[in-house]
Amino acid sequence: MIQVFNVVKMYDGSNPVLDNISLEISKGEFVFLTGPSGAGKTTILKILFGWESFETGQVLVQGINVGKLTHRNVYTLRRSMGFVFQDYKLLPNKTVFENVSFAQEVIGHDQKKIRFKTWEALKNVGLTPKKDAYPAYLSGGEQQRIAIARAMVNSPAIILADEPTGNLDPDIAIEILKLFEELNQKGSTIIFATHSQEIMKAGNHRVINLNRGKVVSS
Ligand SMILES: Nc1ncnc2c1ncn2[C@@H]1O[C@H](COP(=O)(O)OP(=O)(O)OP(=O)(O)O)[C@@H](O)[C@H]1O
Ligand SMILES: [Mg+2]
Repeated sequence: MIQVFNVVKMYDGSNPVLDNISLEISKGEFVFLTGPSGAGKTTILKILFGWESFETGQVLVQGINVGKLTHRNVYTLRRSMGFVFQDYKLLPNKTVFENVSFAQEVIGHDQKKIRFKTWEALKNVGLTPKKDAYPAYLSGGEQQRIAIARAMVNSPAIILADEPTGNLDPDIAIEILKLFEELNQKGSTIIFATHSQEIMKAGNHRVINLNRGKVVSS
């Protein structure tokens, strides 16, 4: 379902941030992506999302050639994916409820279905009491949970989660891990970038370990 062949990515034209990376992730898998700060975890996720270009190599996501995206392809690709961004990327002038429902409006679900699914997703992350608040009035962990609710609301085939538990208390972090595991059991393929040894120990999944833009173990 996800295949990365010999990808080289440079941001500045000289130092490769991804240095000839190859990876394969099967449909229905749950993998942790780990490695030190600057290893290239976020960069890989952005490439899979069709958000960053790369110099050489090939990337296939559900049969879509991500290096050669057309407008129509990029829409199909992103429709099948949920992305929990490392810096959340919440819309500041929309409420919690609107931040989560917005993703579905873009896709064109009807209002009743949108309200129902938004409510379910907020319940899953324990945020229904905050549904009318604006992101600026919430803690970092609460904002993170909105970002997770937003990524899961369309039941995407693939969920790319960039440090989704980075700002959470250990207990809540484990709860969030379990939430991703439930989504995985319902069929979503999950790529979960994390630094946390505790999280990786708590979830018994394949670990792809990056260092300086290379896969050092998988
Ligand atoms: N937009 C950008 N422009 C230039 N360099 C960038 C850009 N984004 C990332 N980099 C560089 O690419 C390298 C990999 O960054 P990336 O964000 O993928 O690492 P990471 O593994 O996600 O790190 P962290 O654990 O800190 O989130 C770093 O050296 C970073 O400085
Ligand atoms: Mg990162």
